[in-house]
Order: sequence, then structure tokens, then C-alpha cells
Amino acid sequence: MSSRKRVFDLLRTINVAACQCPAHSHRGNFQVTNATPTKDYAFEIKCSTVRYGLGVTKEVGMDLVNLGAKHVCVMTDPNVVSLNPTKAVLDSLTKNGINYKVYDNVRVEPTDTSFKDAIEFAKAGDFDSFIAVGGGSVMDTCKAANLYSCDPDAEFLDYVNMPVGKGKQVTVPLKPLIAIPTTSGTGSETTGMSIFDYEEIHAKTGIANSALRPLLALIDPLHTLTVPKNVAIYSGFDIFCHALESFTAIPYSERGPAPTNPALRPVYQGSNPISDVWARFCLQTLAKYFERSVNNADDIEARSSMHLAATMAGVGIGNAGVHLCHGLAYPIAGNVKKFVPNDYGKDPIIPHGLAVVMTAPAVFRFTAQSDPDKHLEAANLLGFDIANRKQEDAGKVLADAILNYMEKMNIDNGLSSLGYTDADIPKLVKGALPQHRLLQLTPVSQTEEDLHNLFEDSLTIY
Ligand SMILES: NC(=O)c1ccc[n+]([C@@H]2O[C@H](COP(=O)([O-])OP(=O)(O)OC[C@H]3O[C@@H](n4cnc5c(N)ncnc54)[C@H](O)[C@@H]3O)[C@@H](O)[C@H]2O)c1
Ligand SMILES: [Fe+2]
Repeated sequence: MSSRKRVFDLLRTINVAACQCPAHSHRGNFQVTNATPTKDYAFEIKCSTVRYGLGVTKEVGMDLVNLGAKHVCVMTDPNVVSLNPTKAVLDSLTKNGINYKVYDNVRVEPTDTSFKDAIEFAKAGDFDSFIAVGGGSVMDTCKAANLYSCDPDAEFLDYVNMPVGKGKQVTVPLKPLIAIPTTSGTGSETTGMSIFDYEEIHAKTGIANSALRPLLALIDPLHTLTVPKNVAIYSGFDIFCHALESFTAIPYSERGPAPTNPALRPVYQGSNPISDVWARFCLQTLAKYFERSVNNADDIEARSSMHLAATMAGVGIGNAGVHLCHGLAYPIAGNVKKFVPNDYGKDPIIPHGLAVVMTAPAVFRFTAQSDPDKHLEAANLLGFDIANRKQEDAGKVLADAILNYMEKMNIDNGLSSLGYTDADIPKLVKGALPQHRLLQLTPVSQTEEDLHNLFEDSLTIY
């Protein structure tokens, strides 16, 4: 203990005496001030191997040969199965003599029912490896199929996050999974998270365990060229909120207690100096390329940059976590009424990125008090002048910056335009309350009334 205390004292001294130049004076370089036994004192960064490059998908067959794979499950959705990304994967497998079976029945915005269908396919196939080619819906479904086919006796809720499920630790070895994202948004290719809509409670929940993380992520910007406009907008706002939420999440040293075993340190650990690097990169990339990538599908520079930013934000959220925008989004998506967006098929659906960004202006007005400087910095990184802006205005400054992006991308005017009214708010609050992992990472603690007010403030946003 005494040597640990000496290390903390030393880090504190270094922090106080830290260089004040812009390159080295990041706030919270060493967040040790509150590191007591009841709080965590460490964070770790885990990430899939990431390989990025135009056309890199053609290497996947060789990767599987290198892994000794003989019988591969390729998962995708009914739309992506007929597009170039799947063709590139299957060509590479054929060229390298790899046996495979395709499952193309992934549901966009998956549910427990659709997860179970994919799990049955994986169990029956007895595969030795998995490839997920598609957006977050496909990658998340494939992670679950891998997990439950490796533990065939597990009940579905065993691994689902508490309090909805039992939050069981993963001790069985999983098969190698190679993720090939075809949208620029979720970052699921680098995370240990698998999200689904649990129909019984009309809200999303998931499985969060680093064992689910893909072995390899192939980030191929060529796949983004067919992404339709609305998918580019909504998945772009997913990156946007990943970066903002991981940047402003409670610092890792404020979360606790420290685990009794490092294997029990949660996937979502709170903001930290390393995830802040990813968040800053993403916010700057969004400022430069988000609009361009939406307005011109052939702008390969913009689309490639957004694709890389999605992965970077994934590394950030995969370790720091997200908070209130995501926590409130899960019941917003789960209680969808009649909203049918363009480019997502014919069923009513509130795409993830849209559900997440709807409450973002209200959320950041609410959280700014926790760290006004960081909220102002975020607005600045998104391209807004913060000279002479006071700390007490930080929430408004960041909310206005977000609203500016939302307006430019023609995002509907709040939850009321998605079909919600005042009368729905208690139901939305009820769906948000079980999102413990996310609510606890929010840098300001919230009462039920606060959640109610945040939904109310988001009914009309402009
Ligand atoms: N696991 C995580 O870390 C994580 C993080 C954020 C979100 N999510 C989850 O991911 C899901 C959303 O994923 P998403 O936003 O990537 O979209 P998606 O996978 O739901 O796909 C959206 C639509 O885009 C189409 N599409 C995908 N790639 C395309 C391409 N290259 N060209 C043309 N069309 C294409 C799909 O067929 C679908 O119709 C949600 O369920 C969300 O909860 C997971
Ligand atoms: Fe997200």
C-alpha cells in the first residue's frame, strides 16, 4: 500500500508541475486525485487488431488460411448480401480455398428474436470462425452467434447485461471473428459490445464483454461508396455522439470500486487520456468531413475519413464508454411507433444514430456543469469559435453546435416528429432506468425527474 501511495504522490506532483504548452497540457493527464480504494485507480485500452486500406477486404481469405480455418460462417444482412462488400469477401474465400456458409438474415436493428435465429444457425453449422460483413447490426449479431454457439447450454439472458440479464462472465473460448464494417458509425468492429432490442421491455440492452471483441477488423473504405444518404447521416451522428459521450464521460478514476481482479474491470471504464485522443481526432474529422461525406457519395476522401473516424471512436467508446444520449436512445428506438425513415426498408424503425442524437442538445446542456472546459473544447473541435465564451455558457455553446449540425443534415425536429408526445415520457423514462452502465458513466448524477425533463426538452429541438 505504501509504495502505491508513493506512486500516486509522485504522479500528483508530476501533474501539478505538468508542462503548460498546448501539446502536453491536456487536462486530467494523470487522474489520480480521487484514486482511493473505493474508486478505480487504473484503466486499460483493449482493441481489435485494425487493418485499414482501400480494397483490404481481398486479404480476408489469406487471414483465414493463416488462422487454419476450414469452415467459416459469413454473416450479413439481406441487403448487403447482394452488394460489393459481400462479393469481395466471398471472392477472397473462394480464391483461398476456404469453405463457407452464408447467413444473410440479420435484422437491421436486431432484436432478441433475430439474435436467436442467428445463434441457431451458428450452433447448427459448427463453424471454426466467423466473418461479419455489414453494419453494426450484422457485427453485433455475429458476436452473439459466436458466443452462444461456443456455450450451447447457456440461457439467452445469462450473458445479457444486468439488471435485464445475469451479466455472466465469459469463460468459454470463442472462435475467431473478423469484422468488416460497411457503414461508418458504430465502431462495433473494435468493441466487446453486442446490442439488441429486447422486445419484452421495448428497449435496447446488450452483452458487454471484451471476449466478444473481433480478432481482426478490416476497415475498407471502398465499402462506404454505396452507403445511402440517410444511413451516412444517422451513422455519422452515431460517431458524433460516441466521441462526445466518451470525451465527457465520468473520469475512470471517479468510477469504482476498483475490481478485485483485473479481469473484472468493466468494458466501460470512463474517460481517460487515451480515449480522449480518439475522441478529439473524431470531432476534428467530423468538422472537416461529415457534411462532405453526406452530400457526395463519391467523395472518397471524405467517406474514407469518416470510416476511419468510426473505428477510432469505437476504440474510444470500447474502453471509455458512452453515457446519457445512448441510455435515453435505447427506449426511444425500442418504442418506435410509425416512423419509417428512407433507406432503411419498409418497417417502422428509429435508426440508432437518430435515436442517439435526438437528446444530445438537452444532454450536453445538462452535463456541462461537470466539466465546462471540456464541453467548450468539444464545441471548438467541432469547428465553433469559443473565444470569450464563459464557462457557465458551456452547455448552451455545445448544444448550439450540435443543433447546427442537426439542422444542416435535416434531422427531424425532435422526438415529437418521431411520433412521441408528453404522454409517452413516463414509458421512455422507465426504459432508460435499467441502463445502469450508461447512467452511471454520466458525469452528473440524475434523478427520475431529470430524465423526464431531458425527454421533455427533446420533444421539439429547434
Ligand atoms: N456494438 C457496438 O459497439 C455498437 C455501437 C453503436 C451502435 N451499435 C448498434 O449497431 C446497429 C446500427 O448499425 P449501423 O448504424 O451500422 O447500421 P445497420 O447495420 O443497421 O445498417 C443500416 C442500413 O444500411 C444498410 N447498409 C449497410 N452497409 C451498406 C453499404 N455499404 N451500402 C448500402 N447499404 C448498406 C443495411 O443493409 C441497413 O439497411 C444498432 O443496432 C446499434 O444499436 C452497436
Ligand atoms: Fe452508438
